[in-house]
Amino acid sequence: MSVTTTPVSQSRFLQRIQGVPTETTPVWLMRQAGRYMPEYRALRARHTLLEMIRQPELAAEVTLQPVSAFDLDAAIIFSDILPPLEGMGLELSFVKGEGPVIHNPVRTAGDIAALRVPDPHESMQGTLEAIRMVRPELDARGLPLIGFAGAPFTLACYAVEGGKSRYHENARILMLSEDALWDQLMTKLATTAGEFLLAQAEAGANVLNIFDTWVGELAPHHYEQRVLPYVRQMIDIAAGAGKPIILFGVGNGPLLEAMGSSGVDVIGVDWRIDLRIARRRLGPDLVLQGNLDPVALLAPWDVLRREIDAVLAQAKGDERFIFNLGHGVLPATPVDNVRRLIEYVHEAR
Ligand code: CP3
Repeated sequence: MSVTTTPVSQSRFLQRIQGVPTETTPVWLMRQAGRYMPEYRALRARHTLLEMIRQPELAAEVTLQPVSAFDLDAAIIFSDILPPLEGMGLELSFVKGEGPVIHNPVRTAGDIAALRVPDPHESMQGTLEAIRMVRPELDARGLPLIGFAGAPFTLACYAVEGGKSRYHENARILMLSEDALWDQLMTKLATTAGEFLLAQAEAGANVLNIFDTWVGELAPHHYEQRVLPYVRQMIDIAAGAGKPIILFGVGNGPLLEAMGSSGVDVIGVDWRIDLRIARRRLGPDLVLQGNLDPVALLAPWDVLRREIDAVLAQAKGDERFIFNLGHGVLPATPVDNVRRLIEYVHEAR
């Protein structure tokens, strides 16, 4: 007896993106593979984060952990937005308690000129191989795979600051005061990230997600003039694959019209904006993704359920809505809450 699965092309997730009615709301979670899962922590105890990203067997295993544990509607390839910077010439490590560190941050005209635009087939071959490795298992489950990359502004924040930073002031001073250098840096980042997205699609990713985490701190006119053109450059390259593209940013409410004009198919929003307002501002055609506060997953089930209901009420009747969090799953999240959230969203009609 053979088990019949729906082909990936008819998965809820891809159907929603294409505007085809589905019987229930598709759901996936940013950072769905991570420290809240005991399977992840067990592997992480024996390997560094960069090993787990660079070794295709490990990245493939972690990618599949959440889709094996839960009834998710998509997998996202296990990586991070920062490893592509290594191929550009930056030295990256993840330091316990500190997060990402770039040991040779970009500070001068010479630093920017020295940045390479690497061939992703060489610099990111581990991730591309991991994508090829998870494909058969995902096909058997009828699940699409999301490939991703950081957007130029968010990558510039890390490249220039050399790690996490409260205000990203060095990157933003460069943006405001050095037009030619900013253009050179952002073009290199957009090209690197765009070509990496294209390569992921060619390796087997069905959907491409652009993370522009830190854009919410920008004035709308700065976003439109000094950031959006490079998001468009990146999208123009990635769009060559013909796959749907998601664009997400934390606190991007004030930028929705600008982000919606970028040429992507899906806009991801966080909990700081009501989904009905986001829908009105984006118009009827774009798909909307979001926006449960990840902190709600730390609360008891009755509180979490109330918060899920609030998101679903905001999205009621919206045929172009994908359920997600407004940012990544927090490490302290109980696994059981993730399971119940996914079941609950699927049961709600
Ligand atoms: O969504 C997924 O499941 C795929 C995996 C994924 C990771 N990072 C793994 C990771 C994705 C999509 C990212 C994206 C990412 N990384 C973003 C954009 C989205 C967002 O969350 O805003 C950003 C800004 C980063 C940079 C980054 N990576 C930081 C600031 C940190 C340290 C903070 C932290 O959570 O530890 C990371 C580390 C990181 N990336 C971890 C994971 C699972 C934790 C690693 C560990 O120690 O095990």
